[in-house]
Amino acid sequence: MIERTLAILKPDCVRKNLTGAVIARIEKAGFKIIGMKKTRLTQETAGAFYAVHKGRPFYDGLVEFMSSGACVPIALEKENAIADFRTLIGATDPAEAVPGTIRKDFADNKGENIVHGSDSPENGKIEIAFFFSVKELIEVI
Ligand code: RTP
Ligand code: MG
Repeated sequence: MIERTLAILKPDCVRKNLTGAVIARIEKAGFKIIGMKKTRLTQETAGAFYAVHKGRPFYDGLVEFMSSGACVPIALEKENAIADFRTLIGATDPAEAVPGTIRKDFADNKGENIVHGSDSPENGKIEIAFFFSVKELIEVI
């Protein structure tokens, strides 16, 4: 089934000048970019985006990190996009990620792990709507 997922190239990815390298991997894996922007989250918007993790020990650090600099949200479309994107990025902790995955190859640690990926088709829709209006999303051609 054709699905949509939200990627965010996190502030560590932008700081390390890796946005081009990561986007190249995403495109090589067959994902179509249907929306993309560069933005900076406030603590409030970062907290809202990751609200599901509120109360976890890493939540405050996550909000701090995600609002620490610019990030690049990207709406993606592909057959089986949710699972395939999670495979492409690898495990949350780069130390546990499979070689060749984006997190294994580029991330420093579990907190600063280069890229976000939606965890279900439902959350993919919600997360894309968090960053993009319908008018900002283009049909795949
Ligand atoms: P994401 O939502 O960003 O794609 O990451 P994920 O599904 O692989 O992992 P999740 O459990 O949803 O955690 C969200 C983000 O919180 C940070 N984190 N730090 N230090 C820690 O133990 C820890 N655990 C999670 C990471 O930035 C993780 O991607
Ligand atoms: Mg997650």
